[in-house]
Amino acid sequence: MPLESFSTPRLHAERLVEAHLDEIRRMHGDARVMALLGGVRTEQQSRDYLDRNLEHWERYGFGLWIVYTSARDTVVGRACVRHLDVEGTPEVEIGYALYPEWWGQGLATEIANRCIGIGRSELGLQSLVAVAHPANGGSRHVMEKVGMFHERDVVLAGERLVLYRTGERAARRSWP
Ligand SMILES: CC(C)(COP(=O)(O)OP(=O)(O)OC[C@H]1O[C@@H](n2cnc3c(N)ncnc32)[C@H](O)[C@@H]1OP(=O)(O)O)[C@@H](O)C(=O)NCCC(=O)NCCS
Repeated sequence: MPLESFSTPRLHAERLVEAHLDEIRRMHGDARVMALLGGVRTEQQSRDYLDRNLEHWERYGFGLWIVYTSARDTVVGRACVRHLDVEGTPEVEIGYALYPEWWGQGLATEIANRCIGIGRSELGLQSLVAVAHPANGGSRHVMEKVGMFHERDVVLAGERLVLYRTGERAARRSWP
């Protein structure tokens, strides 16, 4: 299956599997990683997150990857291309989260570019979105660097987020 793994110049990503539970727990327990993602999560929340994302893979054949260095011996973070219900409209989002020691090297940009490529080339999608906490300046800057634009603010699970979309604002639809 071509989507089960992918590589970028500096990274290698592997499809999420059950054996990644400890890695998910480690990410969810890192206060810096989770600061703008709703805070650290409990054991049960990590278990539920893993189950939801494994089910997504089963259903759609793509989803969340654990991201390693190219040598494949160290986990850098995670990436995703995933279905997302945005206020009743089905969308496909890209996402990324890295452990703090890997921030500031352009790695999230590398991941985001590849995830958009997967969405467009492998999945044939014309449009992908990404959402972030409004205060997540680093993530918003990544979205802008990969050519996404701030389309609007949305409320997901009770939280106000910024929604970015691939492509030119005018080319896709005419927002007021
Ligand atoms: C947000 C995150 C993914 C960025 O990863 P990264 O690998 O450091 O990102 P990159 O290096 O590719 O690019 C970040 C850019 O934002 C800039 N930046 C960093 N913090 C910023 C801030 N607070 N405000 C504005 N820009 C910021 C960086 O300077 C860089 O821009 P540059 O290349 O023009 O210098 C990373 O900090 C992270 O994993 N955070 C925790 C999880 C998370 O929030 N994920 C996103 C969920 S929406």
